[in-house]
Amino acid sequence: MIKQQLARFNRLELLGNATALEKLERLSTWLGRDVYVKRDDTTPLALGGNKLRKLEYLAADALAAGADTLVTAGAIQSNHVRQTAALAAKLGLGCVALLENPIGTHDSNYLANGNRLLLDLFDAKVELVDNLDNADDQLHALAERLRSSGKKPYLVPIGGSNALGALGYVRAGLELAAQIEDSGLKFAAVVLASGSAGTHSGLALALSEVLPDLPVVGVTVSRTDEAQRPKVQGLAEQTAELLGMSVPASFKVELWDEYFAPRYGEPNAGTLAAIKLVASHEGLLLDPVYTGKAMAGLLDGIGRNRFDDGPIIFLHTGGAPALFAYAGVF
Ligand SMILES: Cc1ncc(COP(=O)(O)O)c(C=O)c1O
Repeated sequence: MIKQQLARFNRLELLGNATALEKLERLSTWLGRDVYVKRDDTTPLALGGNKLRKLEYLAADALAAGADTLVTAGAIQSNHVRQTAALAAKLGLGCVALLENPIGTHDSNYLANGNRLLLDLFDAKVELVDNLDNADDQLHALAERLRSSGKKPYLVPIGGSNALGALGYVRAGLELAAQIEDSGLKFAAVVLASGSAGTHSGLALALSEVLPDLPVVGVTVSRTDEAQRPKVQGLAEQTAELLGMSVPASFKVELWDEYFAPRYGEPNAGTLAAIKLVASHEGLLLDPVYTGKAMAGLLDGIGRNRFDDGPIIFLHTGGAPALFAYAGVF
């Protein structure tokens, strides 16, 4: 039923086939525990990542509204802004982004390399701001300015995380459920990075309906459980409402918040060790802001027996372009 509801929404078909669900052979042997990875880092635009799934719905809405400019915001090294700017270029739209420096660094790699370098290639216009504490108001003010200069802006929220964007991860949840069914395996959990929450809310909502026994663990990248929980729960409720369904009774928000310290955008020793371990055993690149922290949670969760028996799925949401911005930390 969720599938039929989803089919009512306009979507740009940017993704093509399902992203792969593959076993990490050498890492599994090393850990003594089977770990699979859902390769959303390989979505087909501008070095990949989770935002393309959300943008399939958001950009379809922008085009339907007759917009000529995508407006969004994020960190200087935002993967979300990179993917939004790339899609704007592909669709022949403008892109204007508000960027903040969340770690107050003067490191030239952070300020100019990695994702930030790519924004210039996509012809995105950027405005540096002191912070994004009132992001919605700041984005509305920017949109108003653009309107008064004759543009037709479309607001993409931070991380693409509103109900419409989260539909991308409802769809991903159904895609993953079909792959799980094909595998014939009984998985212990899906682990992912939980940030602006659209990925977590959408995926957990879909899986709670089609695979209600499968735990979805969100490893927070910027907030405590207490601060992140209402975001994930609230967005799941809004997404269910948009779909015309109620949140299934089996829907549960599970958050692990022990891995994001010292703060958003700053890796810790566990983050760096997880990135190195996966790179050196699999040739697979994680990132210092999101997936490195989520993988550190997965690895520690195995060590501390936090999972039921069975193989574990890691949702790889992308982010490796930011590695070049953090050259000094490795
Ligand atoms: C690489 C990567 N992983 C995970 C996330 C978190 O996804 P969400 O913001 O939907 O919680 C992001 C968001 O920016 C990201 O760039």
